[in-house]
Amino acid sequence: MADIFEKCKNFKEAKRLMELGIYGYFQPISSAQGPEVILKGKKYIMAGSNNYLGLANDPKMKEAALEAVSKYGTGSAGSRFLNGNTVAAEELEAKLAKFKGKEAGLIFSAGYQMNLGVISSLLRKGDVAIVDKLDHASILDGVKLSEAEMVRFKHNDMKDLEIVLSRIPEDKGKLIVVDGVFSMEGDICNLPEIVKLAKKYGARIVVDDAHATGVLGKTGRGTCEHFNLHKEVDLVVGTCSKTFASVGGFVVGDADIIHYIRHSARSQIFSAALPPASVASISRAIDLISNDMSRKDKLWANSERLKNGFKKAGFDIGKKQTPIVPDFVGEMETCFKMWRATLDGGIFTTPVIPPAVPPNRCMMRVTLMATHTDEQIDKIIEVFTKAGRELGIIK
Ligand SMILES: Cc1ncc(COP(=O)(O)O)c(C=O)c1O
Repeated sequence: MADIFEKCKNFKEAKRLMELGIYGYFQPISSAQGPEVILKGKKYIMAGSNNYLGLANDPKMKEAALEAVSKYGTGSAGSRFLNGNTVAAEELEAKLAKFKGKEAGLIFSAGYQMNLGVISSLLRKGDVAIVDKLDHASILDGVKLSEAEMVRFKHNDMKDLEIVLSRIPEDKGKLIVVDGVFSMEGDICNLPEIVKLAKKYGARIVVDDAHATGVLGKTGRGTCEHFNLHKEVDLVVGTCSKTFASVGGFVVGDADIIHYIRHSARSQIFSAALPPASVASISRAIDLISNDMSRKDKLWANSERLKNGFKKAGFDIGKKQTPIVPDFVGEMETCFKMWRATLDGGIFTTPVIPPAVPPNRCMMRVTLMATHTDEQIDKIIEVFTKAGRELGIIK
């Protein structure tokens, strides 16, 4: 008889890497998520966080969360649909919509849940989802949860997108879903061309601004602001776990569409609402960054310093379009060794391996915060350069 636990007993790869001391995941941090973190009692420079604007340990953010806890308690005790809705949640949705230049908004308890809910509620059997090969897993899982067909086009390849679109029968509902900024490689989607093709072939567009919110565009409104294409994109989705330094997901768009998703997205209806502290801190984050570009500018300045240092050292760091800096190192084993060497040098970062990247394109994903100092950035460059030379990644 087949035992479904058999695969667990045979799952040896992670244990092998642990024994070799090159396992870089689930590292237990015992401090706030700042430019430095404490890991197993030792201080490290954090170079692998999504706390882009450094708000996760900001006193004003903590103040908002603490106030909400003392006023409203710790939990929402149910789904928005039933008992878990609050005035604060509705105010946050209106604030998010305004921030993103759309009519209405809806929040979810996580970005992952948001993509599951938004995509699976919009797509029906017979519809087609058109996704970039490097789209985030939550987008792919959202499509899988629907009964729609999924077709994938080559990463950011507009010729391939057109080939894919032209093969779909005209009468089928079509939804193009792309990351605004791709989470691993850090490049920006070709939104102007996507908009053109969507118009030509009658498709709707969803842009996932998880890594673009607060980072891209003149005022940090994201990918649509970067390309000045607010009206042309149907729905913008995102997470509250990165720039907004909390947890949660959101979708913004036309009021009717949001109203429909609110009443159809199962990952929202059948899950408890965000706790009051999260709602309050997301709201505070939007207030803090809406009219103050200093954090965004500092993040970009910090990233430029890092990219210049990596480039000078000879690393392959991809297209250099955003503050996500992929440091391509090659094979998986080399990547784990690089992780170990940089950790030993006092830098916390994350190795990225298949299926997130092709087998020979493993990378260290390096991201900074607005709150890093020049000294910390120079230390990251120094440690990476030394490790890269020792491992033969650079000369
Ligand atoms: C593009 C993208 N979408 C969605 C998510 C999921 O967001 P969350 O972490 O809030 O679940 C992520 C998280 O990494 C992401 O990068």
